[in-house]
Amino acid sequence: MIIAVDGPAASGKGTIARALAAHFGLPHMDTGLLYRAVALNLWRWGGDPASEFEALRACDNISLDPHDEELRSEPVSMIASSISAYPGVRSALLQRQREFAEQEGGAVLDGRDIGTVIAPEAEVKLFVTASPEVRAERRTKELAARGMTAHFEDVLADIRARDERDSGREAAPLRRAEDAMLLDTSAMDAEAATAAAILLAEERLRAG
Ligand code: CDP
Repeated sequence: MIIAVDGPAASGKGTIARALAAHFGLPHMDTGLLYRAVALNLWRWGGDPASEFEALRACDNISLDPHDEELRSEPVSMIASSISAYPGVRSALLQRQREFAEQEGGAVLDGRDIGTVIAPEAEVKLFVTASPEVRAERRTKELAARGMTAHFEDVLADIRARDERDSGREAAPLRRAEDAMLLDTSAMDAEAATAAAILLAEERLRAG
């Protein structure tokens, strides 16, 4: 069984995907981390995010340490959003995601194009959203908890810029798959959102 969880920045899709994976006993992949790892590679080299050629070079030998704090820093988030628009970068990362999705027993993946491009055959698809203000508030708190200084207005501006880029790009834009269930978490805390997601997934599985 494949579960695809897509949605914009700080919508809560990561938390929801992890909870679904634990609930159904499935492995989980946060595909945003792959784009972030490429971005971090590029940043450390001093490569130019405006150059598709340099971004492609940064796809080679990406080392992914999910505990690396820098992966979630704002500069890396912005670079990840811009290099993820390059079709070459997307195809360099495609195989890894497909293999993970198609492993025996199933998997949960979260990202922007899981239900549309990576695993259109997924049995359960969720599209998680929340208002930009709610998402900016969550991300500001998350950054503060990690000891990074972040101002709400700046985070909100970043989120809006990223939304626009992620939805407006030609290569695999962020959009809800036709058969994805919509979950708006604006008025939900993490616990309520994960409970709602589990309920939706179970209903979908029961309906076959
Ligand atoms: O957690 P947050 O939503 O802020 O970011 P993320 O999911 O870690 O993704 C970082 C960036 O990678 C996003 O801005 C997207 O542009 C890009 N991304 C993508 O294009 N496709 C995916 N499947 C996952 C992430």
